[in-house]
Amino acid sequence: MCGIVGYTGKNKCEDILINSLRKLEYRGYDSAGIAVIENGKIKTVKSKGKINDGLVKKLEDAGTLNAVTGIGHTRWATHGEPSDINSHPIGNSRVTIVHNGIIENYRKLKTFLIEKGYEFESETDTETVAKLLDYYYTGNPVEAISKAVTDIEGAYALGIIFRDYPDMIYAVRKDSPLIVGIGDGEMYIASDMTALLEYTKKYYLLETGEIAAISQNGASFCDLHGNKIKKEEQIATWDVSEAEKGGFEHFMLKEIHEQPNAVTKTISPRIKDGLPCFEECGLTDEMLRNYHHIFIVACGSAMHAGMVGKYIIESMSRTPVIVDIASEFRYRNPLLSADDLVVIISQSGETADTKAALELANEVGADTLAFVNVVGSSIAREAKMVMFTYAGPEISVASTKAYMVQVALMYLLSFRVALARHAITEEQCRDYITELEKIPDKISECLKDLDPYRKAASRLVGADSLLYIGRGLDYALSMEGSLKLKEISYIHSESYAAGELKHGTISLICDGMPVIAVATQRELLAKTISNMREVKTRGAYVIAICPKGISVDAESADQIIEIPDAGDMLMPLVAVVPLQLIAYYASVLRGNDVDKPRNLAKSVTVE
Ligand code: F6R
Repeated sequence: MCGIVGYTGKNKCEDILINSLRKLEYRGYDSAGIAVIENGKIKTVKSKGKINDGLVKKLEDAGTLNAVTGIGHTRWATHGEPSDINSHPIGNSRVTIVHNGIIENYRKLKTFLIEKGYEFESETDTETVAKLLDYYYTGNPVEAISKAVTDIEGAYALGIIFRDYPDMIYAVRKDSPLIVGIGDGEMYIASDMTALLEYTKKYYLLETGEIAAISQNGASFCDLHGNKIKKEEQIATWDVSEAEKGGFEHFMLKEIHEQPNAVTKTISPRIKDGLPCFEECGLTDEMLRNYHHIFIVACGSAMHAGMVGKYIIESMSRTPVIVDIASEFRYRNPLLSADDLVVIISQSGETADTKAALELANEVGADTLAFVNVVGSSIAREAKMVMFTYAGPEISVASTKAYMVQVALMYLLSFRVALARHAITEEQCRDYITELEKIPDKISECLKDLDPYRKAASRLVGADSLLYIGRGLDYALSMEGSLKLKEISYIHSESYAAGELKHGTISLICDGMPVIAVATQRELLAKTISNMREVKTRGAYVIAICPKGISVDAESADQIIEIPDAGDMLMPLVAVVPLQLIAYYASVLRGNDVDKPRNLAKSVTVE
C-alpha cells in the first residue's frame, strides 16, 4: 500500500523517480508526487490520479526540475480522500517526506503540534509526521528522526529530505517495507526491488527501528539511539524483464502465461528422488507426524490456495486442517498450541494481517512455515521455516501466477504430510509427483485457444451479478474464480457450494443470469450436474468448466469449456486458468484498467 522511492546521485533524478514510481504503481494509484532539492530549495510536484493522468502533466507544466536528489510516492489512500492536497510528498520548506503505512496516534500528535503553533492543510496522518520532524529538527536529521519515530505509533516506511542536506536522503521504517538500492555513485530507496531492477540488483534491507542516511557514495545505518549498524549487501534474483509486459497487453495476461514456468521453477527444486522434499526449510517427517493440527492462515487469493490445501491434506492424511482468514485469526483467540503447525501464505510477504497472524503463532510457540514469493519480506524473515514460491515479480494487482505456485507448493506439502503419516506409500507418492510434474504442460494447453474464455466473458459483461458453483475442490476454486472476477471486472459475484444453493440462494436465479459451474470432480459430478440443471431450468445461463472426457450435455450447460484432464485431485491447478482468463476478458471488455483495479492495491500493509 503506497510505494515510495528516492534517488541521490549524479543524474537528474526526476526521470529516475518517475520511472521507479511507475514500477510501484501497483501498490496504489490514487495519487503520485515527487519532491526534489533544487538550488537549495525543496520543490514538490504532486497530483491526484495515476502517474500518467496527473503527475506527468503537472511536471510538464512545472518545467524541467534540475535536481539530483529527490523522493517520490504513489498513494493508496487511507486517511483523506484522493486529492492533490492529500498527495505525498508532504512537508514544508525545511523537511519533506513520503510515507507508506498508517500512523495510529496521529490525532494525539496533531493536537500536540497544533498547540505548538503548527497549521495543517491535509487530512492525512502523514502530515503529522512531517510536522513532528520539523518540530524536533535543530540541525541534526538523525536526531530529529529518532525523536519523531519514538513518538509515533503505527506502521511506517519514510523517505525524508532536509533542505539543509541537499545531497542526502534519510529513511526509517517500522513494519512497512523499505530497501536501500546500491548503485555506482548513486543510491536509491524503494518499497520493493521491482522499482530498482532497471538500475541495480544490489540492495540493503532496512529493518524495523533502523535509520539510513544515504548519499551518492553509500549509506550508513544506525539504530534509534545513534548506534552504528553494519549491514550486508543483498543481491536480487529477479530479472528486469520479469517486471515488464514483454509484448502482452496487460501484466495479468503475461502473468497467466508465465504460470507453466512458475510451477516448474517452484516444484522442481523440491522434488528429490521423485518425492517432495522440505529439507531446505528444516521441516522433517517427525515434525509432520507430531503436529496436532495444521492451520493455514492467509488473505484473499492466498487463503483460497490454503482452501485447496485443506481439502487435499485432510482427504489424504486424515489430519485436521483449519483454514483461517488472517484478519479473523489474529483477533479470535484461536485454539492454537505449541504442538501445531501454522502455514502462512503470502505473495508479498508484507500483508499486515497475515504478518500479525504469524507473530501470534510465533508467540504461542507453534511452528510456523511461510510460503512467500518475495525474498527478504517481513513474513519470510519472521517465520521459523520458509519455502519460497518462484513466481517472479507479480505486478498485476489480481494474483494469478502467485496463487498458482502457492497451490503447487500446497500439493507438495500435502504429499509430504501423507508420506510422513504413512497415509500413502513412497510409490504412490512418486505417482502423484509424476502427475504434478505434468501440470505445466496442461496449463500451456489451456492457453492455446483463448476464444472460449472471451466468449464466456462476453456473456458476463452485461450481468449485474452471477454465481460460481462447485463441490469439494471445485468449491474452493469457485471462491478464487469469483474473487478474480469481482476485483477486476467490478461485476458482483458469489461463490457457492453447489449443494447449498437450494437453501436460499437459488431464489436469486433469474432469466439469463450467468452461473459458472466448475465441474472437475468425477466423484461429485452427478450431484454437480443436478445443481446445474436446477439453475438452468430456472433460466440461468450456465457456463461449465470441465475436463475433457467428462460428459456435461446441453441440458445442463449453455457453454462448455473443456480443459485437459489432470485427475480429480490436481484439477484446481488446471481449472483455475479458465477462471482467471474469464475474469481477465470481462475486465477488458468492460474497458477497465485490468492491472490496476479501482480501490485496490497489491500489497496490503494496513489492517
Ligand atoms: C487477489 C489478491 C489478493 C491477495 C491478498 C493477499 O487477486 O491478489 O486477494 O491474495 O491481498 O496478499 P499476499 O499474498 O501478498 O499476502
